[in-house]
Amino acid sequence: MNVGLLGHGVVGSGVAEILLDNADIISANANTELHLKRILDLREFDLPYRELFVKEAGEVTQARDIDIVVECMGGVEPAYTFLKAALESGKHCVTSNKQLVVEKGEELIDLALKNNVHFLYEASCGGGIPVLSPIQNCLGANHILSVLGILNGTTNYILTSMMKNGVGYRDALAKAQELGYAEKDPSADVEGHDARRKIAILAHHAFGSKFSDEVRYPCTGISGISYDDLLYAKRLGYSVRLLGGAFRMGDGYTASVWPYMLPAAHPLSSVQDVNNAVYIKADKVNEVMFYGPGAGKLPTASAAVSDIIEAASKPVRNTKPVESLRFVDGGAQILQYFVRVTSGNVDRAMQDISKIAAGTEYIRLEGKKNEFALITPKGTCGDLNSMIERIQKRKLTLGQVMRYVPEENRP
Ligand code: HSE
Repeated sequence: MNVGLLGHGVVGSGVAEILLDNADIISANANTELHLKRILDLREFDLPYRELFVKEAGEVTQARDIDIVVECMGGVEPAYTFLKAALESGKHCVTSNKQLVVEKGEELIDLALKNNVHFLYEASCGGGIPVLSPIQNCLGANHILSVLGILNGTTNYILTSMMKNGVGYRDALAKAQELGYAEKDPSADVEGHDARRKIAILAHHAFGSKFSDEVRYPCTGISGISYDDLLYAKRLGYSVRLLGGAFRMGDGYTASVWPYMLPAAHPLSSVQDVNNAVYIKADKVNEVMFYGPGAGKLPTASAAVSDIIEAASKPVRNTKPVESLRFVDGGAQILQYFVRVTSGNVDRAMQDISKIAAGTEYIRLEGKKNEFALITPKGTCGDLNSMIERIQKRKLTLGQVMRYVPEENRP
């Protein structure tokens, strides 16, 4: 079978490299010879396979001799137009493009089914970690209860390097930019938007939700987290992680992206640097975690090539999740919050807060005269939000509100 590649950037060049380097194992696993036949990219490349490059999309998307089209261009257009044409021409399609999946996934899946071809996107979420296919295949005997993940390598690098190196958010971000993890404009990563797209893709696989629900997920990133927050976490034996979460609630599901305080014993707590992990609770298997590199040329390309193998070797089937849960507001979720409070009169502030929320726990750090941290009692997300609003009205300065996971409870 012949493969046509759209885009020879970081991931696309990785797909080409893997297809050429590992042709033996790939063809054996696909049970057929797989050839990289053509690559669409407008740039010039001085490579041993330079004769494969073309500048007209139709030479890949509509060519009679191409069986599988792999899109690694990024962005919605022209990737959407190209893949639509390829699916309509009866070609299996594979993409690593999360924005395309979230914005056009439903339409492209329907189009693939109509044309009896595959539309696969394992590489769009969690980079090299196999997770979308395992949710539907290996966990197919379960009802998924929750999916919680470190879905963004840049923010995990920043948080873990703040903790390891004793530096503030700005310094850790600058280092992440220097190492090429964070973009010059880092907002898509640090404000949680990248993680939000990925949890929308995971929620689709776990619960059959609409990709487009993504815009309704509450989303808070890590730009409000300070080194002092991490000192409290350390004192408690906790770590701070940005997590995307999707949770079954009644006959619906809710989802969000939020900074969490996690106990050291939680499996996600040990995930360091740019690595990603997806922790799933399901009714029969109980807990499983998928861990690995969430980005990067060869890891992401490895996931895309696994889809090529699936497209080449497996019959087309309806890959739509069997459930179709609707998004519900998470106001009824039972949570606990952690927040750092600065005040000129710490004792009075704690008395005031205890009047608002009896049962609040306080943590003091040696040498921090004008601040403390609090952990709220358990409550619904809605009640806890009103509690925080009432505390804010007391002229107290609050740090980033985080979700606090007690030792005994793994969400
Ligand atoms: N910017 C993303 C991250 C890249 O840091 O995880 C992979 O989607």
